[in-house]
Amino acid sequence: MDKYAVFGNPIKHSKSPEIHSQFASGLNEQIEYTAILAPVDGFTLSLKDFFASGGKGANVTLPFKEEAYAYADTLTDRAKLAGAVNTLKLQSDGSILGDNTDGAGLVADLQRHQVRLQDSVVLLLGAGGAARGCIYPLLQAGVKRIVVANRTVAKAQQLAALFAPYGEVHAVSLKEIPSLAFDGVLNSTSSSVTGDIPNIEGELVAGVSWSYDMFYSDQQTSFLNWVADHNSQCQLIDGIGMLIGQAAEAYSVWRGKLPNVEPVLAKVK
Ligand code: ATR
Repeated sequence: MDKYAVFGNPIKHSKSPEIHSQFASGLNEQIEYTAILAPVDGFTLSLKDFFASGGKGANVTLPFKEEAYAYADTLTDRAKLAGAVNTLKLQSDGSILGDNTDGAGLVADLQRHQVRLQDSVVLLLGAGGAARGCIYPLLQAGVKRIVVANRTVAKAQQLAALFAPYGEVHAVSLKEIPSLAFDGVLNSTSSSVTGDIPNIEGELVAGVSWSYDMFYSDQQTSFLNWVADHNSQCQLIDGIGMLIGQAAEAYSVWRGKLPNVEPVLAKVK
């Protein structure tokens, strides 16, 4: 049976083993997928052990995505642009391919929610790893303009410069967001983890048709609650579908078949 695993620290609450085993059974395939707790200073070693013992592919989560990027022998374009790897694949020549399926998972989830991305204008809050991973896939999906707004404006400026060859990406601080006719707002900050909200004016989201929080929990996130307070018509989407979408993309990278996410979403929710 082909062996896969997710590496992270912590890893106990990972939903990936459940998601991937449901993908496999939906496709009538047999795979083994485990969660591996790698020591913070021992990720590379555990990964080497895993591939040496017959592992075919791995997912990588916090805090190892940059180390996985360095570990890979070759990188896909989207991984290079993301600066991080969440999917590793053993290739037929024995080398390891590094990919990043996070942005594709986000785009797939937005499309599943019937969000129109073509020619749209998006306000992206945050400029960390999560923001970096989604800019290129959003531009590829037809987004016309992305305004990256971050508490620390220098980080937003770095992203705008990095992605300038691929589309229209502007950088601003949270205080200087222009009142454009944004179609949607995407929260990539980690503020929802602590129940916080990025400090921006409510008017900025009053006209958006959709709002996406990359975070998810059992309850509606603090950010989505805040958007709803300023815009009762807004479509509110949390990041659970992105999690499942990136997993489906990873499965397809490994095994050439894209699983159906719907039954898995219904169960995980
Ligand atoms: P990730 O990999 O999840 O993106 P990260 O690289 O640590 O994590 O980035 C976290 C992002 O959330 C950053 O953009 C951070 O803003 P700063 O660059 O100014 O630190 C943003 N962030 C975290 N907490 C926030 C808060 N309470 N309000 C606004 N932005 C916040």
